[in-house]
Amino acid sequence: MCGIMGYVGPRPASPIILQGLRRLEYRGYDSAGVAVADAGAIQIRKAAGKLDRLEALLDESEPPGRLGIGHTRWATHGPPTDSNAHPHADPTTRFAIVHNGIIENFFELRQELVEAGAVFTSDTDTEVLAHLIAEEYDGDLTEAVRRAVGRATGAYALVAMTADEPDTLVAVRMISPLVIGFGEGETFLASGIPALLDHTRRMLVMEDGEMATITRDGLRMETIAGVPVAREAFEVDWDVEQAEKGGYPHFMLKEIFEQPRVVADSLLGRLHDGEVVLEDVGWDADFERSIEKIWITACGTAFHAGLAGKEMFEGLLRIPTEAVYAHELRYRDPIVAPHSLTLAISQSGETADTLAGARLLSERGSRLVAVTNVVGSALTHYSDDVIYTRAGLEISVASTKAYTAMLVAQYLLALRLGQTRGTLDTARAAEVAAALEALPDQVESLLKREEGIDEMARFLGRQLAGTDDIYFIGRGLDYAVATEGSLKLKEISYLHSEAMPAGELKHGTLALITEGTPVIVVNTQQHVYDKTVSALQEVKARGASVIAVAYDDDTEIEHYTDHVLRIPRTMDLLSPVLSIVPLQLLAYHVADARGLDIDQPRNLAKSVTVE
Ligand code: M6R
Repeated sequence: MCGIMGYVGPRPASPIILQGLRRLEYRGYDSAGVAVADAGAIQIRKAAGKLDRLEALLDESEPPGRLGIGHTRWATHGPPTDSNAHPHADPTTRFAIVHNGIIENFFELRQELVEAGAVFTSDTDTEVLAHLIAEEYDGDLTEAVRRAVGRATGAYALVAMTADEPDTLVAVRMISPLVIGFGEGETFLASGIPALLDHTRRMLVMEDGEMATITRDGLRMETIAGVPVAREAFEVDWDVEQAEKGGYPHFMLKEIFEQPRVVADSLLGRLHDGEVVLEDVGWDADFERSIEKIWITACGTAFHAGLAGKEMFEGLLRIPTEAVYAHELRYRDPIVAPHSLTLAISQSGETADTLAGARLLSERGSRLVAVTNVVGSALTHYSDDVIYTRAGLEISVASTKAYTAMLVAQYLLALRLGQTRGTLDTARAAEVAAALEALPDQVESLLKREEGIDEMARFLGRQLAGTDDIYFIGRGLDYAVATEGSLKLKEISYLHSEAMPAGELKHGTLALITEGTPVIVVNTQQHVYDKTVSALQEVKARGASVIAVAYDDDTEIEHYTDHVLRIPRTMDLLSPVLSIVPLQLLAYHVADARGLDIDQPRNLAKSVTVE
C-alpha cells in the first residue's frame, strides 16, 4: 500500500518526511522518495528498496528546503525500480507529485501526451499527472491541479508542488485517504494518521472529491468542482499502534473492512463498456480461443480461491479445469497437453510450493499466468503473464482481502475468455460485468448494514468459542467458500473445523453429528439449493445447531436453521465475494472470544517460502 507524507513550515522538510514515511512502513512498500523545493528549484531523491536506501541518499546530499513531499510505493504500474519510484516530475522538474491509487485512463492520456511530443521516464500512471499539471499551469497550482484531475479518472490521492510556489502544497482526495495535521506555524499531510502523530494530534480527514491548498498557516479546502468546504479539525487520541490498525483492534478486522475498497480497486480500469482489460496479460485472442485445459495451482487460501475459479471457469467457459494443491502437484507427473493455461495463485508470490508447482506446468508447456498481490514477486519472474490482485499489503497472517481480490481477478479472466470464445453472449457478459461492478457497494453495505453482520458474528462467535468441532458444508461454489470459511476459523481459533461438500456428509461424517454440534452451511446456489436443504435436514434431525449464510430474500432457509447470516442478493456465480465476509467475521469473533493472538496465530507464517 503506498504511503504519502508532505510538509510545509519553518523546518527542513526532508527529515520530517522521512520520519513520516517510516511511520507508514508497516503498510508495506517497494520503493521510496522525497522531493523538496528551495530557491526556485525542486530536488528529488528516490530509490527502489527499503527506506534505508533513501536515507543513505539523503545522508549523501540532503536537498535543502522547507516544503516537500515523500512517498513509499507499492507498485501497480511498472516494476519497483528507481525510476518508477515517486515523486514524479514534469520534464522541467518545476512540478513534482506523489500519488496513491490508480489513474484509469492513464494509457489514453499518455498516448495523447506522447503524440504531442512528451517523453516519459517511468512506466507509472502517476507521471502522466505531473505532465498534465505542468501543461495546465498558468501561475496558480490549485487551478492547474484542478484542471489536470478533471482530465483523469480513477481512485487516488495526489499531492503536488511547484518550484514557483514554494509555500504551497495542493492535495486531492478521490477515494484514497489523506489526512492533514496542524502544528504551530507548520502543516503536515499524510495518507495515514500514524505518519503525523510525532508532530501533532490536531487533524482533519479529507473526503472524496475534495481539494486542499495547504500552507504553513493552514489550508483552504473546496471540492474539485470549486465549492468551498468548511470542516473542523479534531484531536486524535489513538496511540501509534491503534493508528496503524486504523482504530481496529486487529489487522485482520481492518483488512476485512477494507474489502469494499479492494474489490473496487481490483476492478478499476479493467472493465470498459463490458470489455475486460488485463494490463499485464500479453496473449492474444487466438491463444484465448485455443485453450483446451486450465490448471489452477496454489496453497491454502489461494487454493480455495482457485476452487471457486475452477467452478466458474468450467461453468462459464466449458473448459475442463483442474485445481491442484501445488505441494501435491510438484511431486506428481502431470499430463500437460498442448493449449493449456495455468493460473498460479499466490498472495505473496513467494510460496515455495506454488513456485515449484507452477514451474513444473510451465516447463511442460503450459502458458503460466500469475495471480498475485506483489509486483515483482518471484512468481511474476517465472510467469508469462500476470494479473495483479491489488489488495494492498496484507499484514494479518489469516488472509481475507487477498482472497476476495483473487476471486475478482478470476472473474475478470473468465469474463474475458468467455467473450472471446463466445461462451458468453453479449447480454450475459453485460449481466456479469454489471453484477461485478455492483460488488464493491454490496460488500460495503453488507459490512455496514444496520442489523449488524459484525454484531451477529460476534454473538455467534461467543457461542461457538467453547465447542470442539465445527463443520462447514455447501455445494459447488458454496463448498469452495466453505473450505475457506473453515480454514479461517481453524487457523486463528485453534478449533477443529472441517469443510465438505454437503452431499458427502452421509458417507461418513454424519456419524459425528450429535446434539448441539455446530454446522455452518453456505446456501446460495439456486440449482442445488434443495439438495443442500436435504443435508441440513439430516443434520438437524441429529440435533445439530445450524448457522446458514444465505441471501437476504431467502425466506425458506429459516425453517432449517438456528441462525442466518444474511448477504445481499447477487448472481449465484459471484456470491463467494459476499458469502465469505460473514465467515471471516465469524472466525475473527470466535478467536477474539477465545482471547487468542489473531494476527499472529501460533505455528504459522505469512509467507511460506520453504518447503
Ligand atoms: O502467499 P500465498 O497466497 O501463496 O500463501 C498461501 C498460503 O500459505 C496462505 O493462503 C495461507 O493459507 C493463509 N495464512 C491463510 O489465511
